Parts: sequence; structure tokens; C-alpha cells
Amino acid sequence: MKAAVVSSFDTAPRYEEFSAPTAAGDDDMVIDVIAAGLHPRVRSQADGSHYTSTDELPLVPGIDGVGRGADGLLRYFILPDTTMGAMAEQTVIDTRRSIVLPEDSDPIAVAAAMNPAMSSWVALRQRVQFQAGHNVLVLGATGNAGRMAVQIAKLFGADQIIAAGRGADRLAGLPALGATDTVLLQGDADTAAQRLGQAATDVDVVIDYLWGQPTTAAMVAVVTERADRGKPLTWIEIGSVAGPTASIPSAALRAARLQIVGSGQGSVSTREILAELPALAQEITNGTFDVDARPTALTDVEQAWADAARTPQRIVLMPQP
Ligand SMILES: NC(=O)c1ccc[n+]([C@@H]2O[C@H](COP(=O)([O-])OP(=O)(O)OC[C@H]3O[C@@H](n4cnc5c(N)ncnc54)[C@H](OP(=O)(O)O)[C@@H]3O)[C@@H](O)[C@H]2O)c1
Repeated sequence: MKAAVVSSFDTAPRYEEFSAPTAAGDDDMVIDVIAAGLHPRVRSQADGSHYTSTDELPLVPGIDGVGRGADGLLRYFILPDTTMGAMAEQTVIDTRRSIVLPEDSDPIAVAAAMNPAMSSWVALRQRVQFQAGHNVLVLGATGNAGRMAVQIAKLFGADQIIAAGRGADRLAGLPALGATDTVLLQGDADTAAQRLGQAATDVDVVIDYLWGQPTTAAMVAVVTERADRGKPLTWIEIGSVAGPTASIPSAALRAARLQIVGSGQGSVSTREILAELPALAQEITNGTFDVDARPTALTDVEQAWADAARTPQRIVLMPQP
């Protein structure tokens, strides 16, 4: 069968012949892949930089996708760490790590949106006591996950939704998705952080995709400008596009009722994540969210890899477009 094949961590995957997968365990199922998202996590899998990398090559990248198996059901699946990923004509899934989708689901929208959307959906449902009427700050709101976080906060009944990020054009599109205020994180870093603190004086939850220095600056500003420092503030670390570490001043934790938690695989169990997916898939199927997907034939995988670094859209690879 044909697949996107990584033979070297220095070069993009190529469309090549690869051994067809076989089912080994009782819950395994070989499925025909319909669509697989090219998420940031997939890029780090394919260049060997992800912390789960075992350096084993060749590998087929792709951590999740939509497909159909011998039972005829349309499924969204999440793969374990494997060299037999989703970017192939076929892959093998553990049906326990899949959900059956409504037949009218759009495979492209589901493949594009589930990974970025589940980051905030799971965080707000599992890592904080989120209630309608709470105020949310999305830090790093311009990416695919940030755009979804704005929409999910709105769906969950957030009152204020403050979207902060770089890229004025992308930021300008967020009020139409539910942001009640936007803060451009560009120019002088201290001035930008101060603007952020002044816009977010009453937030209950921060959904953070940045980390690194921007988070340090933002946390100090938000705590300093806080209207009521005794009011609980939960800072949920989800992504780290601006850096893997952030210096947290001790005073930030003393001066306000701040708690920092993370959300992702590990801090939330696979069982808990899977339990959230049917409702999220239904919302995507209902067309609740604006999904910015770019379907691309799997044959064009090399070009897709080059494009992924440039386009804000989520590329979705399709073996049979
Ligand atoms: N924990 C989880 O469950 C989970 C799930 C999904 C995703 N994630 C993580 O969430 C993060 C975002 O994912 P994504 O799918 O949204 O990626 P994405 O679509 O590639 O978006 C990344 C965004 O971050 C922006 N950015 C990069 N560096 C920045 C900086 N220094 N300051 C401000 N903005 C910056 C980019 O802006 P430019 O275009 O200007 O570079 C882009 O808008 C990644 O770290 C991903 O691994 C976590």
C-alpha cells in the first residue's frame, strides 16, 4: 500500500510503498484511512524531536484520523506511539481508542478539528471547575487550538473571552468567533504584557498555548492588575509554542490565588479523554465551529510538509481524495 514514509528525520515524508498493516490484538482493526490531520505534534513525530521518539525508522507519521473498517462504521481514532501512523491508505487502530462518528460527519472537519479542539474542551471539562459566566483568557489564540478554544469557551457559556496572540490579521478574526476582547502580543514585550493585564483583570481561567517568556510576562501582568487577588485563578498550560520552560516568580503564586495546572495526555487519562470525544465530534458534525482546514492529497505529502510551516490552516491529508 501507499503511505507517507519518513526515512530520515532530516527530510519530509515521501509518498512511497509501505507494508500493509495487520491486526494483532483482539481489539485491533485495520481501517481504510479517509483523513488525517497534520498537527504540530505530527511534525515533531516526523522530525524525531518529540519526547516520545524512539528514533525507529522508517515510520509513517500521523497520530489520529478518520477512517472506515470492515464493520463499515465511520470512526475517529487516536493512535498509540507507533511507526504505523495515520498517513497511509490503511492503518491499524485499537477500537477502544476510537469513537464511532455520526454517518453525516465531515471527515475533513473532524480530522482537522479534533486534536486542536480537544485541548481546550478536555481542559475546561477535566482540569478546572469551569462554569458558565466565568471569564477566560486564551493566551496564543491565533493558532488552530487557540481559535477552537475561543469557540469552545463561548459554547460552554463563558462571559468574557479575551483572545491574546501575535498576528494582527488572525487576531482580528477572533471576535466573529466569540472573543469579547483581543490583545495583540507584538511590539515591546512589557507594554504588550501590561495591555494584557489591564484587559484581563477579572479572568477565572487562562488557557495557555504559549509558555516560555510570554507566559512569564503575562502571568506577572495578570496577577499585578487583578481586580480581586483573592478570587481563584486557574492557569492551564496546554501548549508551549513560545518555549518549553517559563520562569514563574514566587510572588505571583503568593500574591494571588493562582494555581497552575497542565492538560494533555497523562494529566488527563486516555479513558477520560475518550469519554469527552463523542460530544465534541457531535459539535463538529453540527457545524458549531469554524474549522480552518485545507484538504490535500496524500500523494502531495512532501509539499504539504513545506506548506504546514507557512499556512495557518490545518492541513488534512487524504489517501483517496
Ligand atoms: N495538550 C494538548 O492536549 C494539546 C492538544 C493540541 C495541541 N496542543 C499544543 O498546543 C499548541 C498550539 O497548537 P496548534 O494546533 O494551535 O498549532 P498551530 O495551529 O501551528 O498554531 C500555533 C500558533 O502559535 C503562534 N505562535 C508561535 N510562537 C508564538 C509566540 N512566541 N508568541 C505568540 N504566538 C506564537 C503561531 O503564530 P505564527 O503563525 O505567527 O507563528 C500560531 O498562531 C502546540 O504546542 C500544540 O502541541 C496541545
